[in-house]
Amino acid sequence: MIVAANFKTNLTRIETGEYLGELESLVGKIEENVQVRIFPATSSLIAHRGEAVVGTQNAYPAQSGAFTGEIGVVHLEEFGIKSILVGHSERRHIMHESQVDIAKKFDFFKERGFEIIYCIGEPLRTKEQGLEATLEYLDAQFEGIDLEYGRLIVAYEPVWAIGSGLTPTLEEIESVHKALKTRFSAPLLYGGSVKVSNAREIMELPSVDGVLVGSGALRVEDFFTMIQTAREIENQN
Ligand code: PGA
Repeated sequence: MIVAANFKTNLTRIETGEYLGELESLVGKIEENVQVRIFPATSSLIAHRGEAVVGTQNAYPAQSGAFTGEIGVVHLEEFGIKSILVGHSERRHIMHESQVDIAKKFDFFKERGFEIIYCIGEPLRTKEQGLEATLEYLDAQFEGIDLEYGRLIVAYEPVWAIGSGLTPTLEEIESVHKALKTRFSAPLLYGGSVKVSNAREIMELPSVDGVLVGSGALRVEDFFTMIQTAREIENQN
């Protein structure tokens, strides 16, 4: 099970450091079957050693160069960062990253051996058209993406569920995940309004290999509770 926190544009560098310190003291030693990832804001990246692996929410697909406002691989290397989110819906919809941009970024970080959490998700109008339309939309988000990549993790995050407090039904998550799992063998996370109160039922679904949590992870105690839940589920299996 993979339990990942996306801090988005929250938590300063000092707050992120405190969060990580507290989290490590709460989690102690994690069994191999629960992996923890933390994605802080860019200016809060930290060289961290512990059970939680720190990754980046974004980076420009370049070692370094003239890309004002962006960071490149040299900046990630300074913190020992080898994990990146690619294709998050906020980057697709707010920053207008196209599928072509995203596929380029994916390839670049794949060539450098990064773990890639590749995010996909459909908008509400597509969801309302049913499962077939949803899968068609999601398939288009795999264009140019190497689904065989060994360090790939996929996160299914319906756009309408992100930050909204709304979640698909468990049946809806299961049917989308089941269909997606016929397309790749990488671990498949669910994301979108995951919180302490629904994390267990979501992680217990057979086709869910973990969760990507935004606002529900901003309090370290809550995120730790979700890690504990993941441990309990793994120990039952
Ligand atoms: P949310 O965000 O948990 O706040 O809905 C999830 C995400 O965007 O990864």
